[in-house]
Amino acid sequence: MGTLKLPGLIDAHVHLREPGGEHKEDITSGSAAALAGGVVLVLDMPNTYPPIVDAGTLALKRRLAEEKAVCDIGFFVGATETNPAEAAGLAWQAAGLKIYLDQTYGPLRMHNLAALLAHFCTWPADRPIAVHAEGLSAAMAIGLARIYGRRLHLCHVSRANEIALIRAAKESGAAVTCEVTPHHLLLTEADAERLGPYGGMKPPLAAEADRAALWANLDVVDCIATDHAPHTRAEKEGATPPPGVPGLETMLPLLLTAVADRRLTLERLVQLTHYAPLRIFGLPEPAECWVEVDPDARHTLGSAGLLTRCGWTPFEGMPVVGKVRRVVLRGQTVFEGQVRVQPGFGRVVVPARHEG
Ligand code: NCD
Ligand code: ZN
Ligand code: ZN
Ligand code: ZN
Repeated sequence: MGTLKLPGLIDAHVHLREPGGEHKEDITSGSAAALAGGVVLVLDMPNTYPPIVDAGTLALKRRLAEEKAVCDIGFFVGATETNPAEAAGLAWQAAGLKIYLDQTYGPLRMHNLAALLAHFCTWPADRPIAVHAEGLSAAMAIGLARIYGRRLHLCHVSRANEIALIRAAKESGAAVTCEVTPHHLLLTEADAERLGPYGGMKPPLAAEADRAALWANLDVVDCIATDHAPHTRAEKEGATPPPGVPGLETMLPLLLTAVADRRLTLERLVQLTHYAPLRIFGLPEPAECWVEVDPDARHTLGSAGLLTRCGWTPFEGMPVVGKVRRVVLRGQTVFEGQVRVQPGFGRVVVPARHEG
């Protein structure tokens, strides 16, 4: 086959680490990694230092993005125990509200029931609430979304019982969507053992039966997102390695390999990485935008040449087929062998408002 042309990928879950974590990644290095992976729009998570939780920090993030991004970027606002009203006021400048219901990296874990209920009451009903919710927390979040009539998006679903719950929730008519990551689709706790700290992330890599259940229930999965969560090698090899793995540059080759192996159709790949995230978050279609890939190019994933500042991948040594050759956004070549635009080319994306 010759060149394959796909719509630019949309990644609904990334951590570009700015402000406060620039030694791991910054908006320029992270958005460059996105383009190298065929991703033209990233939705950036709020668990930075400071976290993005009010008008001031969102304005700061926006300013940084306008200055530094090479791909397009949208933002989540983080839920805190004191910001339900302020967060709701920012809903139309954000991809969604993010609530952390379990312990993970960053300062935003929600502990307070009153605040949690206030967020579900106050956040606009037609905008998504994204949750980090493992196990019982996923059931709680779905229950709250049902009670308060809110749209819920479950991040990085990783276990068989969670995907079964989401199927049941959808069948009952709940306005629930979910994402899975390439690492939970392709790696298990056996890989975590092999990888040591480099295989540590939240939710943790699970059993083979969990991994298989994600594939078996792919019809319930709305989108694939990387949860690109870079940490430095020094941090990973330290006494208390932070959870998280990078993923922007490896998602598309891994998924194209799944297509080559007939585990996924190309049409479904495009739904999962392009149309679904735009629909879930109500975002405008990027203009004059596509990715050209060589679907037959065999190579082995590794750390050499990665644009992410962290410089490593949990998929080191994995053979893949499919390579990004060129990425076009707004009619302009943004990536071809290297990034072809200057920081500031990327635009801040906000939801398209609907008048009923
Ligand atoms: C994420 C991070 O490092 O910001 N880590 C992770 O293990 N996934 C936080 C998160 O998405 O839960
Ligand atoms: Zn998470
Ligand atoms: Zn994350
Ligand atoms: Zn409408």
